[in-house]
Amino acid sequence: MTSADRGAGLAIETTGLSKRFGHQLAVNSIDLAVPRGSVFGFLGPNGSGKTTTIRLMLGLAAATAGSVRVLGQDMPGKLDEVLPQVGALVEGPAFYPFLSGAANLHRFDAADRHASPGTRRARVAEALERVGLSHAARKKVRAYSMGMKQRLGIANALLSRRELLILDEPTNGLDPQGTREVRSLVRSLAADGATVFVSSHLLAEVEQICTHAAIMSAGRLVAQGPLAELRQAGTAQVRLITPDAGAASGVLVRFGMTPVVGHPDGADAVITSALDAAPEAIVAALVADGVRVRGFAVERGSLEDRFVALTGEGFDVAQ
Ligand SMILES: Nc1ncnc2c1ncn2[C@@H]1O[C@H](COP(=O)(O)OP(=O)(O)O)[C@@H](O)[C@H]1O
Ligand SMILES: [Mg+2]
Repeated sequence: MTSADRGAGLAIETTGLSKRFGHQLAVNSIDLAVPRGSVFGFLGPNGSGKTTTIRLMLGLAAATAGSVRVLGQDMPGKLDEVLPQVGALVEGPAFYPFLSGAANLHRFDAADRHASPGTRRARVAEALERVGLSHAARKKVRAYSMGMKQRLGIANALLSRRELLILDEPTNGLDPQGTREVRSLVRSLAADGATVFVSSHLLAEVEQICTHAAIMSAGRLVAQGPLAELRQAGTAQVRLITPDAGAASGVLVRFGMTPVVGHPDGADAVITSALDAAPEAIVAALVADGVRVRGFAVERGSLEDRFVALTGEGFDVAQ
């Protein structure tokens, strides 16, 4: 397979993409591969380079080194061909505060020479409906809350049918209800066949809707792939419940594991350890040694564990 063949299945592909601000490499030689049709979570703590990467993808900033292809075309070289197929929400969309939400969308749509004026009214109404802003369509944007402005930004990205949607932190400023709505909106966009590239510093919201993810840390891409694979790559834990803590620990130690014994509710010990052997071999050895096994579970690492391990940072998982 040539690299051109590989690129054919990709909605976004970056190669050695870098952006320097003064002494700081905000984006440090990243190779992103976003499959067409995926819901791709672009994760990383604040300041890790997500917005800068997105600006490079959209031709809003020039790369210091490397290249970006969007929908199979070089950016920013093919900007005029690519942008009509891309709906984007990037950090703090600017609206006219003295115009209503609907009037703002009319203006943006009118500025898009690919958008048909004949269907404008219907498309604006539908986009507002989709983000739950129909009731506030006639209200001036200066009276909008932060969350409403964010939704209006998403509505703007939805005005025309797009091959690719790039949403930078779309749930910023939304309350939990608004966040749930955006989540289901992203799901429905993907169900309509669009590729959705969505950045977030909040793991939980991405984990629930994405098929693929990438993790940024201090400008570097530290992991990417199908969500299931990213989870699997984390260490698995074994959790054993038994009244025979001493004997059970001895068995785990024989397997080269490091058991931690706890007694959360008295009678039975709960022993946890990173899993470092085949679970069936451990169970057989426990039984052979007469350990009474009252519970035995293997828990795969969560994406959160993986994230913390890769970035060395606490991750804001609160919603
Ligand atoms: N225009 C700019 N000038 C100088 N530094 C910038 C600029 N934009 C971003 N940065 C810096 O680049 C780093 C990455 O920022 P950003 O891409 O916004 O991260 P994220 O979106 O992940 O929070 C940060 O340290 C930020 O301060
Ligand atoms: Mg950002």
